[in-house]
Amino acid sequence: MTAEAKIKALTSELKEHNYNYYVLARPTISDRDFDRKLKELELLEQAFPDHADPNSPTKRVGGEITKNFDTVAHSTRMLSLGNTYNKEELIDFDNRVAKLTGGNDYQYTAELKFDGLAIAIRYKNGLLHQAITRGDGTKGDDVTANVKTIRSIPHQLKGEFPADLEVRGELFIHKAAFVKMKEERIRLGESPYANPRNTAAGTLKLQDSSEVAKRPLDGFLYQMLEHGGTNLDHYQSLEMMRSYGLPVNEATKLCNSINDVWDFITYWDQERHNLSFEIDGVVVKVNNRLQQEEMGFTSKFPRWAMSYKFETERQLTKVININYQVGRTGAVTPVANLEPVQLLGTTVKRASIHNADFISQMDIRVGDSVFVEKGGEIIPKIVGVEKSMRDSNSIPTQFINVCPECSTELDRPEGEAVFRCPNYSGCPPQIKGKIEHFIGRKAMDVSSLGEGKIDVLYQSGLLHRPVDLYELKYADILGLSKSIINEDSAEERVVSFKEKTVQNILDGIQASKSQPFERVLFALGIRFVGETVAKKLAYHFKSMDALMNASLEDLNAAPEIGEVIARSLSFYFSSDENKTEIEQMKSHGLNFNVQEKELSSNKLENLRFVVSGVFSLFSRTELKKIIEDNGGKNVSSISKSTDYLIVGENMGPAKKDKAEKLGIKMIDENEFSTMIAE
Ligand code: IVH
Repeated sequence: MTAEAKIKALTSELKEHNYNYYVLARPTISDRDFDRKLKELELLEQAFPDHADPNSPTKRVGGEITKNFDTVAHSTRMLSLGNTYNKEELIDFDNRVAKLTGGNDYQYTAELKFDGLAIAIRYKNGLLHQAITRGDGTKGDDVTANVKTIRSIPHQLKGEFPADLEVRGELFIHKAAFVKMKEERIRLGESPYANPRNTAAGTLKLQDSSEVAKRPLDGFLYQMLEHGGTNLDHYQSLEMMRSYGLPVNEATKLCNSINDVWDFITYWDQERHNLSFEIDGVVVKVNNRLQQEEMGFTSKFPRWAMSYKFETERQLTKVININYQVGRTGAVTPVANLEPVQLLGTTVKRASIHNADFISQMDIRVGDSVFVEKGGEIIPKIVGVEKSMRDSNSIPTQFINVCPECSTELDRPEGEAVFRCPNYSGCPPQIKGKIEHFIGRKAMDVSSLGEGKIDVLYQSGLLHRPVDLYELKYADILGLSKSIINEDSAEERVVSFKEKTVQNILDGIQASKSQPFERVLFALGIRFVGETVAKKLAYHFKSMDALMNASLEDLNAAPEIGEVIARSLSFYFSSDENKTEIEQMKSHGLNFNVQEKELSSNKLENLRFVVSGVFSLFSRTELKKIIEDNGGKNVSSISKSTDYLIVGENMGPAKKDKAEKLGIKMIDENEFSTMIAE
């Protein structure tokens, strides 16, 4: 097969898999095989860019940087919908429809109202041409590059489609993905997003589409503007969109009466909590296209459609006081303690109030009656203050200016919404937080220790820095004990250090010394150095000494290490305390080098490798050495007996062509690392 034919075949195969996975939710291939094929296509496209399909599935990984989004006019205004909040208002709408249809029969479609942001997508000859945000309704931002990263939105339509097609719908982020992103941001000491909707909106406006690709945006389409000249009814047009391979939500119902619509509403009002994404109501649309045209529009809304908004469960309660919590990185988060109130089946006693700006914008005061909602049905938040109930003596909340834990004056770095306690090595929650991070599962993995035990060891004066773990002695910790009260449940639990516990702890700490360098680096808890970044740094610099001696420029030049990470590293290493701690860790035998023995085995026995191109994790020489250390053989040119071609950047097309002709497996350095690690 020629390269061109192979690219074509892979492109169409991968598009089909994307459709099966993201639209039908019925994958027919494992994720691993999919990724392997995608990688193969990417390599082929790099080698033969002229044959690459502009709408290739590889484009979903993003990469395009948009400095300023172009403003594009909408083909017809993107309108909003009128709202109803109860059955009476819905029946009023039905009465208006009955009048406007002049006594003729009519049907409705009932659809879910997705809580995201509206998007208009244009297809030309079946190819995704342009995606535009709602903007002001008449013109919006061209966010095509970002929308192309969304896997459920096809780059190419299927079946028989009109040459010019515009579809509209809603983009959103799934609840679980939101929670994951939020946790990740908190872990990195960043201020978290408020809810999935804002996260999706922020994501769509990111300028680097490869960042967008990392965030799981999804969407459903609910409107087709061009339908090949036929006057399809709305329900049929949804089916038509589905036949083009576009994602149309399944929960759409054709209803013969407003009572049927009401049944749909009551069902989804309950069932919405079981959906993986958020909906804030139901949209009712007159189904017949001609009837829609007859009814027309007001200046803002179609007369033939209406949204029914669910009540978000909201409760009024009182702010007892405002507490400030200090995280591992010194970020200070205000938390309102509330009079307990029932919300969606749980008792809410606290609500996050984000930061100082939020408090002053909402003017939240101690003693205020406030409305709380579950943000995205997950995290309780204050959504309003009932000022009419405010005590006349109440005073505006002043955000604290010293740390509640160690009284150090707080910093608010320029451009950040978050106040920080700069007493990084002396502030108790920062100290404990750093140790908890250090022993974490993905760091040094000392599972015999946890929050409670660390607290006891800290209180006893035995543990102040992660390195102190390695100084702990059996006799010093045996018999320690403390009772700890859980703030939420008020339950008391005793943490005690009996013989077996102590031995487990010491064994776990001892075992952690064999964790590889990348984990140690991650465990240090340097801001912005997450698990992946730690791996990249470790493979690139090979040792802590090299990393510590690297200039800002060297750091910046490392693969995928940007300005923010580089600055954070250089700030961390500028501290004598940090340097001393690292030296002490070294003397306890922790790994501060990528170990040669980590890389040796007989996993590659009898396998012949050709290495070609430039790599970011290893140099070519290193890669070859690793192959040999693991029992493999390096050969310089490709032949039938070659097992793998390890492909780096800028590899010559001739080699690729040859490998392809002979059916030699091509892998990149990441796949190679996985082979060794497995
Ligand atoms: S139809 C002309 N259908 O809700 C009619 N909108 O509050 C256009 N929305 O602007 C809208 N789910 O962003 C329609 N199934 C659905 C929807 C939906 C969510 C959004 C859309 C709209 C807003 C109005």
